[in-house]
Amino acid sequence: MFSADDHRFMQQALELAKRGLWTTTPNPRVGAVLVRNGEVIGRGYTQPAGFAHAEVAALEDARKNGHDVRGASIYVTLEPCSHFGKTPPCATALIDGNVARVIAAMEDPNPLVRGQGFDALRNAGIEVRCGLLEAEARELNLGFVSRMMRRRPWVRLKAAASLDGRVALANGVSRWITSEDARRDGHAWRARACAVLTAIGTVRSDDPMLDVRLVETSRQPPRLVLDARLEIALDTKLVQTAKSGSQVTIFTAEDNPVRAAELGARGCEVVQIGARQGKIDLEALLLELGVRQINELHVESGPGLNGAFVASGLADEILLYVAPCLLGPGQPIATLAEIGSLSERKILEFSDVEQIGPDVRLLARIGELGWLKEK
Ligand SMILES: NC(=O)c1ccc[n+]([C@@H]2O[C@H](COP(=O)([O-])OP(=O)(O)OC[C@H]3O[C@@H](n4cnc5c(N)ncnc54)[C@H](OP(=O)(O)O)[C@@H]3O)[C@@H](O)[C@H]2O)c1
Repeated sequence: MFSADDHRFMQQALELAKRGLWTTTPNPRVGAVLVRNGEVIGRGYTQPAGFAHAEVAALEDARKNGHDVRGASIYVTLEPCSHFGKTPPCATALIDGNVARVIAAMEDPNPLVRGQGFDALRNAGIEVRCGLLEAEARELNLGFVSRMMRRRPWVRLKAAASLDGRVALANGVSRWITSEDARRDGHAWRARACAVLTAIGTVRSDDPMLDVRLVETSRQPPRLVLDARLEIALDTKLVQTAKSGSQVTIFTAEDNPVRAAELGARGCEVVQIGARQGKIDLEALLLELGVRQINELHVESGPGLNGAFVASGLADEILLYVAPCLLGPGQPIATLAEIGSLSERKILEFSDVEQIGPDVRLLARIGELGWLKEK
């Protein structure tokens, strides 16, 4: 159904989309390539929110270089939008530009679009085809797809462990188990996330900053902390940098206006959220993060919160850096309840394996992810 040229141009559109990996949030990462008579005449990718979407950027690129876009084909990694958001609809821009063909990788799962962009284009007499390199396009926007379909972010648990699966010594020391290469790579994953989350146990033992330092970025994701009883110390790096750095939001189960005011005066946002047996209700948390337009949530916590995410079925993948060392007794990646039979074990699936310096990076998917492929 799709030719070799179609594949080649869509592959280019996907590569362009990746340029927005760290910057398009809360919008999806989209790339577009305009082609006329077999020649690429315009390229574009989604700019930061409020600025041009990929299709409009590609049209502008072509016109800037003196090309006539009438009758051209556009390869775009997501269905052109049909609604007014911060920018006018892309479908209208394509109709006004008199393009002849739209080849899309996937339908937009956004309920405000979901096929309506295609309908508008078809009604204007434009040929539309969808489904080229769809799996790759979905992978690029799994956070956006998650938020549109489940109303909550894609949850990625990141950990650094020894070969015997320890993320810290028994005494809590964990710095550093993996190499600087692995830590730099970890910062690139922070940079693509819409928010970075930790819990009070890690704040107590590691006093992390949770910012992106080891790679260059134009955007710092907001930093989130789970702290059911508002125990975070005022001299922690997170509290101390709440005014100067990216936003720090503390989710708590405690109604403690005095403490909340102390933290608020230091620049922290304090949000009271539902609790279950004294612990923050993770499902309520994720729904709140969905409302806050968080697509990809990057979790850097210890075995306590990691275990809670896995046990509740709310974790989607584990990003694990494994160092070639053995630590003996220590803390596990995730604290889970004891099981008596291997048939009860949690099954994951490796979706990516890569050597990073002396360490290995594993990406393991967890849970029922059929929704990711649903339309
Ligand atoms: N190597 C690595 O990648 C890495 C990364 C991070 C941390 N660490 C290590 O991990 C250790 C700390 O582990 P930890 O388990 O204490 O830290 P943690 O997971 O960051 O925090 C534990 C806290 O999470 C909250 N929590 C636990 N279960 C929950 C649930 N079901 N729902 C909601 N919240 C829940 C609880 O706090 P509240 O109930 O008070 O909210 C609990 O005290 C340290 O030694 C640190 O160095 C290692």
